[in-house]
Amino acid sequence: MKQIVDKIVSSPSLHARWLNTLSMMENAGAKKIKNCEDPVFVREIILKHSAEEARHAYYLKKQISKIEENACPTYENRYLLAPGTSYHYLNALDISICKYVKNTFGYSGYKLKYAAYLLVTYAIEVRADELYPVYQDSLSLFSSNVTVKSIIAEEKNHLEEMILQLKEFSEDWEIMARYAIEAERILFEEWKNDLEQYLSTDQANDN
Ligand SMILES: [Fe+2]
Ligand SMILES: [Fe+2]
Repeated sequence: MKQIVDKIVSSPSLHARWLNTLSMMENAGAKKIKNCEDPVFVREIILKHSAEEARHAYYLKKQISKIEENACPTYENRYLLAPGTSYHYLNALDISICKYVKNTFGYSGYKLKYAAYLLVTYAIEVRADELYPVYQDSLSLFSSNVTVKSIIAEEKNHLEEMILQLKEFSEDWEIMARYAIEAERILFEEWKNDLEQYLSTDQANDN
């Protein structure tokens, strides 16, 4: 992944679209959390989490202007890297995990929604804790004005909070978490391969 990220950060056009892609994915994460929220019984920890994911989306979007003003005004495909799999990733993870908890543990209704929130978010936090530091290293390497240190700090907290909530939710949490990690790994590989392919085509360079 480091090679891919270094290539992206060294090109302003790719870097702007990378930030926009991460922003879109963070925003999808924030929306996903909001979507799973119980309108009455929602707790502070979930409000905090969705607010922070929304902040990440906004923060990443704002960083784009440090590279080029108005480079990526929307999340349209032409302003993203590997748009197909970038849009697909969270949805596909959600579907896979919903099916798994429904079929294996017989959950339905709000319990299913809540389990999916916990597991999808958990797997993404594990990934975020790996990916953002790689990105930050690359930013430092190229002396970029962009920084994601504040996001790294919050994602680390999120992961701890997700583990606490999972432990509280079920004594089978580790079995569920293992499934979530494996499902995410497959989708991340898909995204990474698509990204690699995207970077090697002209599409990535003619902008
Ligand atoms: Fe985030
Ligand atoms: Fe997070």
